[in-house]
Formats: sequence, structure tokens, C-alpha cells
Amino acid sequence: MSEVHISDAIRYVGVDDTAIDLFESQYPVPNGVSYNSYVILDEKTAVMDTVDLRFVDEWLENLEKVLAGRRPDYLVIQHLEPDHAGSIGLLAEKYPEMILVASAKALTMLPKYFACANPTQAVAEGQTLSLGTHTLTFVMAPMVHWPEVMVSYESAEKTLFSADGFGTFGALCRQRPWLEEARRYYYNIVGKYGAQVQALLKKAAGLDIQRICPLHGPVLTEDLGKYLGYYDLWSRWQAEDEDGVLVAYASIHGNTAQAAKLLADILTEKGAKVTLRDLCREDQSLAVEDAFRCRRMALLSATYDGGLFPAMEHFLCHLRDKTYRCRTVALVENGSWAPAAGRLMTAAVQAMKDVTLCEKYYSLCGAVKDSDREGLTALADELLSK
Ligand code: FEO
Repeated sequence: MSEVHISDAIRYVGVDDTAIDLFESQYPVPNGVSYNSYVILDEKTAVMDTVDLRFVDEWLENLEKVLAGRRPDYLVIQHLEPDHAGSIGLLAEKYPEMILVASAKALTMLPKYFACANPTQAVAEGQTLSLGTHTLTFVMAPMVHWPEVMVSYESAEKTLFSADGFGTFGALCRQRPWLEEARRYYYNIVGKYGAQVQALLKKAAGLDIQRICPLHGPVLTEDLGKYLGYYDLWSRWQAEDEDGVLVAYASIHGNTAQAAKLLADILTEKGAKVTLRDLCREDQSLAVEDAFRCRRMALLSATYDGGLFPAMEHFLCHLRDKTYRCRTVALVENGSWAPAAGRLMTAAVQAMKDVTLCEKYYSLCGAVKDSDREGLTALADELLSK
């Protein structure tokens, strides 16, 4: 267990997962991820969420060390996703008298995963649970990031247990600066639910929060306004980088890649802050993050089997699923005969909300020629003017 000191009464009992290959079976996490779990020690004891089942032995050991012979009175279940809820069944079996505290929605979902005979206590918005000097107030946070989610505010230590909110990739033993992976985490995991995050932020604004204990990543104790500010910006779908342009390409033999590099150079010469992504070879969650971070985006794709080259098709699906919006987009297609990528990318982007498209996509035919510089320059000018 990574050493995380919170306070005498609020104790960290989570685990680091550095063996994981893909988070949610889709996101590479080269620095792993932590599954955070906490214990509040007072007249009553409360365990705040569990961990992925693969780590149940290590977690139970952490827990027993902190409980030092006591038995947990409550298990507060804020989120039922298995990375946090996976060990509920074994804990419940070990402590059959322990009360499971969760939203009503979570309690209806619980039997889908576990057959627990423990007593349960459904809590609703604003309800409290006194542990002695510590009191938890429950705040419902549906769809941040599942429907049953709630967060918990402990008033004696002004601590918000924020479920997935404010989480980040990276095991605690391998932490990088928060923003590096918190943004990728947000846009790929929670980003679709901006409206729900906004609703939660409005509720949080009424609380005096001095500490945030998320279910992934470090406990946040300083400069909390910075983290809240990022969440506010991100959940309003506002670009973080006004001058930023993502140039993302899907190239078969390198010609579309060459066009992307030329377009990136032209945009850079004109003062844009360009990020270039090869959608075939780089993890697409990075490009998703960049797409939201930047106010503008250029997509370049080869035509393939009469349709889009798969890497671009997948990327557009990711953007659609994460509700990409409020940005300006330019498109470049490539096709040696019967090009279709421009038309198909246009249709996909037009279906997104509040996206401004450059008037006409640029059509490239095979290799990049000198004459293409003029067309790509005109496209760059239009993209930067919008
Ligand atoms: Fe970290 Fe939505 O689970």
C-alpha cells in the first residue's frame, strides 16, 4: 500500500494496480491506476468503498491493520463499478452485521453483482450518517459516472469523498502531475456526462471543502480551486487551449500522414499550437483528450474500401460517444480513385453538436504535390479564422 496520510481518523486503505494492461479493457495506463478506499474511525467505523476484486487480499490486509481489531459498522458504497465495488461480496460475507449504505439506485443494482444478506440503508440527497464526531452527508451524483453514484461530504474534516470525480490514472507509487492524466481520465471516462458534472459542481459549491478523496489518484489537499476550475471548464465543454489545434490523421501508406505534417507546419507558422496525432499508432484516448483540450481540430483520412480508413472511423465514434462539441473542424480526405472520406467525415462531424465545419473539405489525390500547399494553406486560414 502506498503511504498516504490523511488524518488520525480518516485513513487510506487503497491499493495500487501496476499490473493492469488496459483500464476498462480499453485505455492503456502505463503508470497503472490506484483503487482508493478509505476508513473513517470514530465511535462507529465506516469503510468508504472497496477495490477491484483482484486486489481483495491486499486490501483486506490494509483494512484490518487500520481497524486494529474493530469491525466495520458501515460500508458506504458510492459507486458500483467493479473497479471499486469488486470486493463488496467478500467484505460483506466477512462482516455480516455491517450495514451497506448506498443510494436507493445502488441497492437495486447490488444484486446484479452480489448476493449479500447484510442489512442495508438507502440514503437520499442530503441525508446524514453520524459516526460520532464525524458526520457524512450524502450528495447524489447520478451519471458521474454511473446512475447510482453518490458522493459523501464529511463535515468535521471538511472532506469530500468524490467517487470517480477528480480521479486520475496512475498508481500512487508512480504519480505524475495531476493534470497530465486527470484530463485524459476525465474526457474518456466521465466526459460524456458534462451536464451531470455541472449539477454536482453546483452542489459542491455550497460545501466548505478542504480535502478531496477520489476513488483514483492522489488525495487533493491544496489549491482545490484549481481542480474545481478544471472540472468546471471541462464539463462546460469549453476548450482549455484557445490557440490549440489537434491535427489527427489516419494514413495507409504515409501520404495522408505527409499531408498532415504539412498542414501542421502551416498552422504552426501561422501561430497555432499544434498537436499531431497518428490515429493508427497512438492510443486514441490521447487524441480524444487533445480534441477536447484544443478549440480547433483538423482530421485527415484516407479512403478505404469505399469508406473511411478504420482508425478514423473509430476516432469519430469515440468523439461521438464522448459528445464532442463546441469546436471548429477542418477536414482533408485522400483517395486515389472514388474518394469518400471527406463526405463521410463531414456527415459524422455535422451530427455533432455546435461544431463549426470549414466550408469545404480539401481533397488530396494520392501523394502530396507542391500544388497541395496552396489548398492546405487556404484550409488552415479558414480554420484559424473561425
Ligand atoms: Fe472508477 Fe466509474 O469507476
